[in-house]
Amino acid sequence: MRIGLFDSGVGGFTVLKKVVELCPNNSFIYLADTARLPYGVKTSKEIIQIAEEISSWFRQQNIDSFLVACNTTNAIALDVIKNKLDVPVFDLIESVSSTIKESRVGVLATPSTVKTKAYTNAILKFNPKTFVIEQSCPDFVPMIEMDNVNSNEITDIAIGYLKPLLKQKIESVILGCSHYPLITPLLTDLLPSTVKLIDP
Ligand code: DGL
Repeated sequence: MRIGLFDSGVGGFTVLKKVVELCPNNSFIYLADTARLPYGVKTSKEIIQIAEEISSWFRQQNIDSFLVACNTTNAIALDVIKNKLDVPVFDLIESVSSTIKESRVGVLATPSTVKTKAYTNAILKFNPKTFVIEQSCPDFVPMIEMDNVNSNEITDIAIGYLKPLLKQKIESVILGCSHYPLITPLLTDLLPSTVKLIDP
């Protein structure tokens, strides 16, 4: 089986790595759209246009299934991709939302993802009583792409992003952007050990 995946940059590799571990006997085709990175501050119109172009390209790649390894595109243009591709399309937001057990959940994501409230809506669909707070993190993706993941600068920024979540006594934090697993050590250091970090 040939599985297609895409993201704006290195983030989707965190997804690809897991899928390769889980489905080792398949082949993979991964597109990183670094020319147009970051996606997370783009308008819905721009993301839809990108999703159309990328799915048209994947249509010619003989894939058997497709995984949207970018939460921003997942939140804004999943239907566009599903309409363009004639193979099964899997997404991160709905999948992880169906597994959430905690009653107070924080979501870290790009500004464009947060605007859609896609995580809140998906989580509430499965568990209507869950309290969800979404935090937009515009500085993470550019810093992760530059491999600036161990500095005082990113630590201070992360403290600021986590503050509103911790104030709301969240029990878990969803990494709602596929770049964020690359700063798991930093986030783990900053979060109380009782708060679970969830990588979709
Ligand atoms: N890694 C992508 C996501 O999950 C896109 C990040 C970006 O390019 O801003 O949303």
